Amino acid sequence: HNASVTVNPAFVVGPVRPRTFGSFVEHLGRCVYEGIYEPGHPTADADGFRGDVAELTRELGTTTVRYPGGNFVSGYKWEDGIGPKEDRPARLDLAWHSTDPNTVGVDEFMLWCQKVGVEPMMAVNLGTRGVAEALDILEYCNIPGGTAWSEQRKANGAEDPYRVQMWCLGNEMDGPWQTGHKTAEEYARLATESARAMRQMQPGLELVVCGSSSSDMDTFGTWEYTVLSEAYEHVDYVSAHEYYYEDGGDLASFLGSAVKMDRFIKSVVAVADAVRAAGKHDKRINISFDEWNVWYQQATPSKPPTGDDWPVAPALLEDVYTVADAVVVGDLLITLLRNTDRVHAASLAQLVNVIAPIMTETGGRAWKQTIFHPFALTANNARGDVLQVAVDAPTIATERHGEIPALSAVATHDPATGDVVVFAANRSTSDAVALDIDLSAFAGLEIVEALTYGNDDPYWTATADDSTSVLPAHNTTAVLADGRVTAELPATSWTMVRLG
Ligand code: AHR
Repeated sequence: HNASVTVNPAFVVGPVRPRTFGSFVEHLGRCVYEGIYEPGHPTADADGFRGDVAELTRELGTTTVRYPGGNFVSGYKWEDGIGPKEDRPARLDLAWHSTDPNTVGVDEFMLWCQKVGVEPMMAVNLGTRGVAEALDILEYCNIPGGTAWSEQRKANGAEDPYRVQMWCLGNEMDGPWQTGHKTAEEYARLATESARAMRQMQPGLELVVCGSSSSDMDTFGTWEYTVLSEAYEHVDYVSAHEYYYEDGGDLASFLGSAVKMDRFIKSVVAVADAVRAAGKHDKRINISFDEWNVWYQQATPSKPPTGDDWPVAPALLEDVYTVADAVVVGDLLITLLRNTDRVHAASLAQLVNVIAPIMTETGGRAWKQTIFHPFALTANNARGDVLQVAVDAPTIATERHGEIPALSAVATHDPATGDVVVFAANRSTSDAVALDIDLSAFAGLEIVEALTYGNDDPYWTATADDSTSVLPAHNTTAVLADGRVTAELPATSWTMVRLG
């Protein structure tokens, strides 16, 4: 296959937004307990946070971290997680059929964010709770002092307010699995009143209203329309969630997952803009794609316990990712970037152990999954403006998405440094792509690095014992001549070409 990409600094989609590289920590499985927090672990600090996980989180380049859920938040009493640890109650977590000892709560999470250098993004419980409790946690987190909850925070050791800027108004409230699930009308009222009250306390908050749990939901589209019709002036973002997986051995369709994500984004934008027109609103509602990843949801590791079994931190959703999964993750990031005009934030779900780029052994090593690599390379290298690139590529016939381009690409350009980075995915399962990138609109560029992630066996997975034998490797075919980069991209691979 031959494919060409034309890059020109004039065609700016919007800025590279740091929040596109957010992640997610939920009280689920071993994400919090034995993930970010494991007192007694050889690398744990005085507060019980694992140093190896903190270090890998920094290396991943994640920016915001959403907390504490997820489905978990819809039954969460945040007050259980503050104050002296020995006084904190253990509670049943209905979402994941587990017991939460509450030894990590809001204060520990904020401390961890400060140590790791990430922005916290909080969710309030609009499943079993409502406006009053949303105001309580906001007061606890953000009011400097002189009120009951702010003084309580100080008494618990946090003199300064946490100044959390982004708040999710519940989680996946369209999902019948959600504790306190609501109809669109019920949720629209509750979300609007919660948002209004939260902004009475702090007018500058950035608020995310729940959109659909995926584009496959029966209510997708009408849910967004109903909710935004009511909440429009009180919120900034509508959430989008979606997970992708290979179904029935259909690798070709799976590699086209980003096409589905792109259609989803365009559809949410269309509905948000329809509400804008119908309501004669001025501002635009943008998207917080605050759950996305590959997730083999039907597989055994995803099934919570049942019956009388309510374990603490069971191993749940511990998907082990292939190279093909990483190619899809890289392509999904390309898609989020390409839509940077309307996708203003995103969270890879999740950060550690639970459908995660980082895995831990209890008491032992922390290691990187395959999906770590495209995420870290994109988060650490995409800077400046996102450029719309012209792609000319052959198409592939897929069962699930019809004809799709074999090549997916985006570029970023940093006007401050002059650096240009091209990200590309070869979605073909069988054919290499001979790529030709036209960079003649830029002067004086050199290739700084060209890295490709792929493998003869696309089903290779990393383990704790061997997480390094397949890594992004120097693409020796990449050459720059006469303002064009040519490179061969193997089947099922993801590539980053950085020029400066
Ligand atoms: O990320 C795992 C789960 O997926 C989250 O708890 C929920 O919001 C979604 O269904």
